[in-house]
Amino acid sequence: SSQYPYSPLLSRVCRYPLGMSGGQIQDEDISASSQWSESTAARYGRLDFEEGDGAWCPEIPVEPDNVKEFLQIDLRSLHFITLVGTQGRHAGGIGNEFAQMYKIKYSRDGSRWISWRNRQGKQVIEGNRNAYDIVLKDLEPPIIARFVRFMPVTDHSMNVCMRVELYGCEWLDGLVSYNAPVGEQMNLPAYPAYLNDSVYDGAVIYSMTEGLGQLTDGMCGLDDFTLSHLYNVWPGYDYVGWKNESFPTGFVEIMFEFDRIRNFTTMKVHCNNMYSSHVKIFHQVVCYFRSDSDWETTPLSFSPVVDETPSARFITVSLANHMASAIKCQFYFADAWMLFSEITFQSDTAMYNTTLTPPQTELPPNIQPDDPTHKVDDSNTRILIGCLVAIIFILVGIIVIILWRQVWQKMLEKASRRMLDDELTASLSIQSETFAYNHNHNQSSTISEQESNTAYEHIFPLGPDYQEPSRLICKLPEFSQSSDEPASKSTTTTVVQDGVPHYAEADIVNLQGVTGSNTYAIPAVTMDLLSGKDVAVEEFPRKLLTFKEKLGEGQFGEVHLCEAEGMQEFMNNEFFFDISEDQPVLVAVKMLRSDANKNARNDFLKEIKIMSRLKDPNIIRLLAVCIYSDPLCMITEYMENGDLNQFLSRHEPEGHLALLSNAPTVSFNNLCYMATQIASGMKYLSSLNFVHRDLATRNCLVGKNYTIKIADFGMSRNLYSGDYYRIQGRAVLPIRWMSWESILLGKFTTASDVWAFGVTLWEILNFCKEQPYSQLTDEQVIENTGEFFRDQKRQIYLPQPVLCPDSLYKIMLSCWRRNTKERPSFQEIHRALLDIQP
Ligand SMILES: *[C@@H]1O[C@H](CO)[C@@H](O)[C@H](O)[C@H]1NC(C)=O
Ligand SMILES: *[C@@H]1O[C@H](CO)[C@@H](O)[C@H](O)[C@H]1NC(C)=O
Ligand SMILES: *[C@@H]1O[C@H](CO)[C@@H](O)[C@H](O)[C@H]1NC(C)=O
Repeated sequence: SSQYPYSPLLSRVCRYPLGMSGGQIQDEDISASSQWSESTAARYGRLDFEEGDGAWCPEIPVEPDNVKEFLQIDLRSLHFITLVGTQGRHAGGIGNEFAQMYKIKYSRDGSRWISWRNRQGKQVIEGNRNAYDIVLKDLEPPIIARFVRFMPVTDHSMNVCMRVELYGCEWLDGLVSYNAPVGEQMNLPAYPAYLNDSVYDGAVIYSMTEGLGQLTDGMCGLDDFTLSHLYNVWPGYDYVGWKNESFPTGFVEIMFEFDRIRNFTTMKVHCNNMYSSHVKIFHQVVCYFRSDSDWETTPLSFSPVVDETPSARFITVSLANHMASAIKCQFYFADAWMLFSEITFQSDTAMYNTTLTPPQTELPPNIQPDDPTHKVDDSNTRILIGCLVAIIFILVGIIVIILWRQVWQKMLEKASRRMLDDELTASLSIQSETFAYNHNHNQSSTISEQESNTAYEHIFPLGPDYQEPSRLICKLPEFSQSSDEPASKSTTTTVVQDGVPHYAEADIVNLQGVTGSNTYAIPAVTMDLLSGKDVAVEEFPRKLLTFKEKLGEGQFGEVHLCEAEGMQEFMNNEFFFDISEDQPVLVAVKMLRSDANKNARNDFLKEIKIMSRLKDPNIIRLLAVCIYSDPLCMITEYMENGDLNQFLSRHEPEGHLALLSNAPTVSFNNLCYMATQIASGMKYLSSLNFVHRDLATRNCLVGKNYTIKIADFGMSRNLYSGDYYRIQGRAVLPIRWMSWESILLGKFTTASDVWAFGVTLWEILNFCKEQPYSQLTDEQVIENTGEFFRDQKRQIYLPQPVLCPDSLYKIMLSCWRRNTKERPSFQEIHRALLDIQP
């Protein structure tokens, strides 16, 4: 089948919380080396739980040089674990214990324990910096285990408490270990390629025994194995390789052991095939099976079709429904070298439930048997995830740099803008104080450490942390107890280098909008500076609002279209001079359900603060609020012609057709005028480093004379539910508007807003008569995203609309450039659009 190897769906499935916070892991499966008291027992070590005294705490302070305390989780079956999350003991503000560092040990059988190391061989993982924030760490390489231990590590004797979660999925391969000859070194002309198994977790003497490693780490090798050094690992890193010379028998034998007797359908071997370096796919494989104590005498033999393409690929070997708990395969050389990067097994997983304890974790809610997302071949899951992990590995670095540069640019542009000059000055001081505040519990660590360590946190917004934005926000100074004093000036100066604040990706704050969707994402530093000032909007008397229509609803609230009487008094004159005194004004009212939890409320207040700062003629303004009583409301402008999508759908281009049908028309110039305004509003947002995340015609409102204002109601409207793609029954994403890096990596930046702008422009030129990629299903759109990533000229671009001159289509295409750096800025787009208008 033509499986799409980078399917993000699969990776999402395999970053699923395994049940500490969700409760699927039973109390009796959580144990610890010791406990401080009954109320800090192991079972209270669940991430995000506040039961007992708020966390697991060991009996005695943890000493440096003596790591022996641990919190242990038994998952009841083997799992592929890709991510871990930790948190300290907060206990409503009473607790202040957390683990700054920790190690992980794991075991597949409960007796042999292995210390986890990252790909550089480092065991210690940076943990928490305060008692409340959840810190997520990717496990690179991932762990395949049933038991996992978290072991707090300290640099001085201190009390430590932990709450933890594991993320991953069941390990359906069932492979417990493979034994293979040690990988060798290949001398290339310029440098050697080390083809050893660098993450093997078993014993390595003359051969590798009792472990798993690179062949199961889900990371596929490159076509050209000599190039891995470009990604900061040594040449040949992804591969384990052997040379014919060392094997007089002509084959390499690998033995695979499984957790139980399985009914095997296939084995997939990812092989390199780089002829020019004398590397080829094996020319034959012979496999023996063992189900009890004896090896079956008749082996299975298979010879792949070898072709001349030098690309690495999976070779699928049919195992013909053999029953076995161990398989021994002899791979025959076809050339001087043979290089493998992954081996996976597919077996009858239906039997799983009957012979083993039922899996402890729930599948994502929407993964039902009839769900197409579940029909994907599970066997590939691990590989595919690994591939994705590999991509992320490579790209995260690049994107961090891009973002960094953008911040720089934005800051410089900002500085040059007279109107923002004073704000910048103010922001630098406020932001650095807050920054220092946030970390002043933790004097021993410097800020530069923070930056480097946080870069890998939160790289998967679509993972569990995506659901947690509110938590971060509610810990910001103004929402937590304000008794702590800001840190001294000297701390402050270490924060700001060269007068320019910089932040890691991890400092991005996602706001959960009233409708349960994320609204703007902005850098935390900006957030801090925003919160430093008073809200400039006033309370509006609720009774003066007249309900007209429900615009949309979401998890936490509703958006109503209302008429507001006497709103004029509340409105700042600068933008609303054209509204007559006595007429009621059309407004959108975002309303938080009165039963919304505290986090949602805090988010809502935060959103008010952000919205109140947005002042641009092309951005919807916050007019007033009702926050003295429930339900909390946010009153924003609404425009008489509704949203741009509906507006254009009702109109036709100028021409014969329109004349005949008598339909209202919009001229090309007015289309351009509207597009230019959107670009202008986005230029403003990007100058503040705001990322909209959901730019589309449905989110632009149309007023008199084709004026446009950008809003963010789209996601809450049933009308547009078809524009969003639902993942795990939770997050919804406008995939047809999203850049490839947003879909595959969960990266939302101004550059991804630029991508969405390109799609919006396309919608406009099509008069919104067609959904983008309307001929593709959601799954195909995601596959197409993969083609954008691979960039092998197989990606499908949106076609040039009939009305669209080449110059405009060129702008669209530039917005969809693969390389985010090569996409134009909103300044450039705005300028280019102005040039197009006659
Ligand atoms: C693999 O080879 C590299 C490069 O020589 C070396 O640094 C590393 O320690 C080796 N790893 C193992 C597990 O042998
Ligand atoms: C293995 O699975 C196949 C297909 O699911 C089935 O036809 C076969 O009977 C099974 N073999 C055994 C020994 O259970
Ligand atoms: C492997 O090496 C043997 C000698 O050890 C040689 O006879 C054989 O032709 C080689 N095979 C390949 C495919 O290079």
